[in-house]
Amino acid sequence: MASASTKHKVAIVMGSKSDYATMKNCEKILRLLKVKFETKIVSAHRTPERMFKFAKAAEDNNISVIIAGAGGSAHLPGMIASLTTIPVIGVPVESRKLKGLDSLLSIVQMPKGIPVGSVAIGEDGAMNAGLYAASIIALTNKEIKKNLKNYRTKQSKAVKQKP
Ligand code: RP5
Repeated sequence: MASASTKHKVAIVMGSKSDYATMKNCEKILRLLKVKFETKIVSAHRTPERMFKFAKAAEDNNISVIIAGAGGSAHLPGMIASLTTIPVIGVPVESRKLKGLDSLLSIVQMPKGIPVGSVAIGEDGAMNAGLYAASIIALTNKEIKKNLKNYRTKQSKAVKQKP
């Protein structure tokens, strides 16, 4: 049942500070929709213990959705998803060598049993991850649902009929 006051929080995590240029687009859209969020650097291979603690504590910290961005062999979203049942949305960050195709395939090709949602590579994907997280929150929060609908209406109105 949707309620206006349902507690919610999105966690945005990323493997490196260098991912922030991409992941700040999640923050931008969540701020616009008035969705609460926190942002952290959590690396699956450089800070595995921090990742473990973050994922294990996420439920107690009232996190409703996790957005995890990573580049290269991007195992962060899958590793986090293996440690919690909170929905995880992976953002494939554009990598220097393979332009993010490596990140995309690492995230989207999760073996069965542990699902990770994936958006497109890069900034547009990060923005969509924010919108997707908001629509999950909107299932139980009327205020966010209203903000999301208003956003869609404005977007439709901004599309002109003629070039
Ligand atoms: C991954 O390695 C990060 O998610 C980042 O996209 C990539 C490169 O990291 P840096 O070398 O820029 O720190 O863990």
